[in-house]
Amino acid sequence: MQNFDVSIERRGTHAMKWDGFAPIYNLENTDGILPMWVADMDLATPDCVIDAITNRLKHPVFGYTGVNDATYRAVQQWLQSHHNFMVAQEEILFRHGVIPALANAIAALTDEGDTVLISTPVYHPFYFIPTNLNRKLATCPLHEQDGVYTFDFATFEEALKTADAYILCNPHNPGGMVWSKEDLTEIVRLCQKHNVLILSDEIHADLVFEGHSHIPIATIEGAEDVVTFMAPTKTFNLASIQSAFMIVKNAEQREKIATYYAATGQGSINVLAIEATRAAFEQGEAWRKELLSYIEGNMDIVCAALNELEGIQAHKPQGTYLLWIDYRQTGLSEEVMMARLLQDAKLALEPGTKYGEEGRGFLRMNLACSRDTAQEAIKRFTKIMA
Ligand SMILES: Cc1ncc(COP(=O)(O)O)c(C=O)c1O
Repeated sequence: MQNFDVSIERRGTHAMKWDGFAPIYNLENTDGILPMWVADMDLATPDCVIDAITNRLKHPVFGYTGVNDATYRAVQQWLQSHHNFMVAQEEILFRHGVIPALANAIAALTDEGDTVLISTPVYHPFYFIPTNLNRKLATCPLHEQDGVYTFDFATFEEALKTADAYILCNPHNPGGMVWSKEDLTEIVRLCQKHNVLILSDEIHADLVFEGHSHIPIATIEGAEDVVTFMAPTKTFNLASIQSAFMIVKNAEQREKIATYYAATGQGSINVLAIEATRAAFEQGEAWRKELLSYIEGNMDIVCAALNELEGIQAHKPQGTYLLWIDYRQTGLSEEVMMARLLQDAKLALEPGTKYGEEGRGFLRMNLACSRDTAQEAIKRFTKIMA
């Protein structure tokens, strides 16, 4: 059993979260600031993953290495047992990150000048990847009430009329929604009707709390052309090991992506990522369950404490370890809130507008940390609201 209560010192490891946030927050000195921003965990990856990497390191040759059958099998079995998602080996295309994979898919499957639609607020790279690739970006706001997001399908359909591709975020970062079968079915129906390619970022699929279940949109009837993006990296805290994959059911799309990989000189992922992925999916399930229950504990404590504060609403997410905190009722501007947090509370949370204008009045707090850290965050946040 993993002891998630242990606090691990990450300063000094060049961790972006702990050592790299001065320029992001425009600070000269980050001493004493508790960082709860970028989406990685302060918790140790499971032993099975460390053992797999260590074992591979014992072989002294690190020449070009392809993905082995055991790793493909581990991915296939995980997807089948966790998500009822049946995938053939050739449909799994590995890449070193979901974001690079998404960029590759947009480049390979859409044309310059095409329009890529996103539902906002949403994970910020969704804004700049399409535009950096000379695609037009179209945004369609999600409907929000009390921090809970839903699709406004009338507005969504209107936006789809001029779109060529749509990037779905499921579970949703930053809102923590796990989209329902009804939502996904309607998204598929509307995208089919308007001939819009669905690119579905499901990196948070395995971080879903009791009472909710993740459904890959590619498993919805009629969704054969969806490209799905997944990874072991969020769930097992392996971001810098760099492993992700696309599931591409359509052979013609796979051909286009393969051609794009070849044209841009992209080879296999690294050998340690291959071994880590296999171990995580083969042996990491018990650890994942413990992790989820620990994070849910953090969520419960932090939500209860923040909801006591005047003007603050923290709605427990259905999935992800990210808490989306609504402070609109305080009347504070984002500038004032961020200044208070950084200078007075010594707490680095993410400003909501990072996820789009609809995020104004919200903060994102990363609760993949020890219970002590979560308690400390409550103490610091409470201090500035007094
Ligand atoms: C929705 C979403 N997609 C992708 C990523 C990043 O994926 P990767 O590090 O594999 O590029 C994140 C990280 O926070 C995320 O929240």
